[in-house]
Amino acid sequence: MHFAGVLENWLPAALLILALHASGQAPRVWNERDLAEWATPIAAIGVRPGHFSEQEYYASPEDNYRTYPVYHPDREPKGYWQWLQKQKPKPLVDARKMRAQKDWIAAGRNAFIMLDDPSFRTADPAEIARARDKANFDKVFLTKQGTIIDNVWVVTEQGVMLSGTACLGCHVRIDLNGGFTPAAPGTPYPEGIETIGPQTPSLLRNLFAILFPGDTFGEANARSFHVPWDPDPRVDSIKSMADQEIGRLITGDGFTTFARFNGSPWYMTKIPDLQNIRYSRYIDASATHRLRGPGDIARYGALVVGADSMDFGPHRILTDAQRRVTFHYADAVLHAIATYLWSLEPPQNPHPPPAALVKEGQAVFANQGCPQCHPPPNYTSGKLTPALGWTPPADHPNREDIVPISVGTDPGLALKTRKGTGFYKVPSLRGLWYRPALLHDGSVASLEEMFDIKRLSKNHMPGGWKAPGVDSRAIEGHPFGLGLSASDKAALLAFLRTL
Ligand code: HEC
Ligand code: HEC
Repeated sequence: MHFAGVLENWLPAALLILALHASGQAPRVWNERDLAEWATPIAAIGVRPGHFSEQEYYASPEDNYRTYPVYHPDREPKGYWQWLQKQKPKPLVDARKMRAQKDWIAAGRNAFIMLDDPSFRTADPAEIARARDKANFDKVFLTKQGTIIDNVWVVTEQGVMLSGTACLGCHVRIDLNGGFTPAAPGTPYPEGIETIGPQTPSLLRNLFAILFPGDTFGEANARSFHVPWDPDPRVDSIKSMADQEIGRLITGDGFTTFARFNGSPWYMTKIPDLQNIRYSRYIDASATHRLRGPGDIARYGALVVGADSMDFGPHRILTDAQRRVTFHYADAVLHAIATYLWSLEPPQNPHPPPAALVKEGQAVFANQGCPQCHPPPNYTSGKLTPALGWTPPADHPNREDIVPISVGTDPGLALKTRKGTGFYKVPSLRGLWYRPALLHDGSVASLEEMFDIKRLSKNHMPGGWKAPGVDSRAIEGHPFGLGLSASDKAALLAFLRTL
């Protein structure tokens, strides 16, 4: 195709995108064209997960409400509560006010921090009173402003309601000075501190009651992990567990990991860094969906907050009463969040190791063959590696991205769950210096541990997530860089800490 031809084909699309932005319109998030080949087939059954149709999705009520911080009762600005009562519902993201990309990014950052999940909302005066009683704030993390990060107030047509944050509850890094970084990987709880808001456990029960009508809390949790083609009796046992026990099971240890719907508390997923998301070509550790651009992040946001039909070929997870879209966020909200996440860069290490050592480490990185999968500048090839024991079929729809080498890490998540695509994606190493949990399950807690051959021994005590009821176990796989001399290892780690 000659140059003019390229222009002809390309220009109208580019102009359309510019026009959409200029007029403050967001692209249609849930559309059949982009959904069709988005999800990766499940390895065990060879089918792509189904999805709600575009029509089902947009038939649900649209949600776009501005939220307000919940303060520690002693830190609430004077008159705040009275002022809040007088507020009228306002949009969280107002598309008409967006002029340029930077407006979407700023609105997206605010939305990522402040977005609430409507299924959390309650107007119950007793719950609201508890969220304003300082006795319930003992261990709760407070920002410098004296606000908490897990609960928010939202003003709807029903007045002021208590709610919970939709993204920030998990995707945040906190520091003890009251600072927090949205979209950074999850934080190990410092001694005696929690990010859980005073009312989160009860809000979570509201949410499960809305998403899974007819189920007890235990049944709903078991349903969110149940694999009909390969049932796990341990998942069944969740049905009769106490709520607190379920809470511990799904958060793992502290807040670096979380068992999401379709995953499993026994095959954990770590809370990933979203500041390097645009270097990936797939979403999730097991590459459940393609990442073709910000639109796929917006769709993923919709999927994980209530628009997951949970159909897998002939297998249906939800009852007829449960299988419906209860709401959808305005496209502008999800587009703003996706534009923001896509704009992020992992911050540079403020305390880089000595330059000479880093240079040595760069050479070790190269001669150990790391760039084959983690090539600069993004330090990921964006490719898929098959889980131990699985061979993808030759006609796999993602075949162009498959490297035929298994890194041999625990295959459970990739083979035994509803996130079981059969693959682990090659993660980006950008931002490794502040990453608190390594490997898909967050079992490794430091680079020292990652490159210590002793982690292969069954007497090893994982520094990060340990499966429930497990103290010591081998962390197998990813054998690269395990045979290094002490000095080469020190150099490699120094280099990795500059990425
Ligand atoms: C309850 C905790 C929790 C909440 C709330 C949550 N996430 Fe996540 N998120 C996770 C975990 C855990 C993963 C990793 C899942 C996996 O690897 O399978 C993840 C993965 C992601 C990814 C893919 C990252 C990657 O590297 O592939 C994106 C994007 C994302 N979340 C965005 C969001 C957005 C946007 C929201 C709010 C609408 C949100 N998340 C709410 C825990 C959460
Ligand atoms: C054949 C491809 C391949 C090669 C070669 C390779 N890696 Fe990896 N690497 C992966 C995959 C895949 C994962 C994720 C595995 C998982 O999550 O179970 C990973 C994970 C990692 C992680 C953990 C990152 C995280 O957030 O979980 C680090 C650190 C890492 N690799 C560094 C290296 C270094 C250093 C080398 C060379 C000594 C190397 N890798 C060689 C494919 C590779």
